[in-house]
Amino acid sequence: MKTSGQKGNPLLLGIDLGTSRTMVLSNRGTRDMVRSVVGYPRDIIGVKLLHDSHMIGEDALKRASYLHIHYPLEDGVLKEANDQAAEAAKLLIKHAISLANPQPGDPIYGVLGVPARASMFNKNQLLKITQELLDLSMVVSEPFMAAYEIDQLNNAIIIDIGAGTTDICAMKGIIPSGEDQVTVLKAGNYIDLVLENLIRETHPEVQMTLNLARKIKEQHGFVGEPKEEVVVNLRKNGKPVTCNLTREVRTACETIVTEIVEQLQNLIMVFDPEDQEEVLRNIYLTGGGCRIRGLADLIASHLKEYGQVVVRQVPDPDYCGGSGALKLAMELPPQYWEQVGHVYRSSK
Ligand SMILES: Nc1ncnc2c1ncn2[C@@H]1O[C@H](COP(=O)(O)OP(=O)(O)OP(=O)(O)O)[C@@H](O)[C@H]1O
Ligand SMILES: [Mg+2]
Repeated sequence: MKTSGQKGNPLLLGIDLGTSRTMVLSNRGTRDMVRSVVGYPRDIIGVKLLHDSHMIGEDALKRASYLHIHYPLEDGVLKEANDQAAEAAKLLIKHAISLANPQPGDPIYGVLGVPARASMFNKNQLLKITQELLDLSMVVSEPFMAAYEIDQLNNAIIIDIGAGTTDICAMKGIIPSGEDQVTVLKAGNYIDLVLENLIRETHPEVQMTLNLARKIKEQHGFVGEPKEEVVVNLRKNGKPVTCNLTREVRTACETIVTEIVEQLQNLIMVFDPEDQEEVLRNIYLTGGGCRIRGLADLIASHLKEYGQVVVRQVPDPDYCGGSGALKLAMELPPQYWEQVGHVYRSSK
């Protein structure tokens, strides 16, 4: 159990735990991101090079040659029944909390976002981890946090395109239940893989890696008709070459669209028929993956026969879930937290 003196004003945190990135926001102005990875030295040389037992985030990725890299969240969910993953998750969350710079004696209250589909076991496991780190913690579903942030809790659909999964959630004025949400296992990571393979096929002579494919996608990703050519400098036998990757980037980015549209069509039917017209005008894209250009328009165009359909990107897709978590922590008096999510409360 965490043992703060509980003297200061509470430090309130919103934490969005993702497969690839964890976002941390606080009521004192913290707005930070850490890659969701923990690295452990492979052997004694690594221990010497690291001067520590582990390293978190981007720093660990840069040292992958001598570290074992762990992703404690798989498809956004804590890997089940695995002590090492739980330990890595704890190190990651501890690091995330430290980014908010808690002062000795500060009570720390945190709202943590987990994927909508996280099991009860998973939520409890996460709360167990936070017991030693926070005085009060609540686990809530990520799409709900995003909806809370943009004030779209009723007659709206949230599509969160992350790295591991795309989560689509119907907001009906209540905490979303199992039937209100679907998960598609195609998101940013899947696009990266398709893009890497496409470039390898069409440009077998250039050196391509998954990481490079991801960077190309993040810089140039688009769907629909190209507004400009995607021209990228790559390496062939160590020498620079210029490649036109317009077709490859478009094809890879469009691979996630069909399934999103299909699931969207299913989810529209969980709403009352009288509400569906309003719902179709309230479809929101969030998560890092939604920054692919043209995505909102392409999804809307696939739903033409439904009448007027408006698909929008939320104003701040990377931090929308985390901001919603912080907003909830700031607006909801702690005595009501049990009514909204799964809660751990220290007995002090
Ligand atoms: N500008 C961009 N264009 C396209 N994709 C991007 C861009 N910026 C980030 N991404 C992608 O967004 C994904 C990360 O998004 P996000 O941080 O929302 O995921 P996550 O929450 O870690 O994952 P998950 O929700 O699946 O657990 C990565 O696949 C990344 O490549
Ligand atoms: Mg996410």
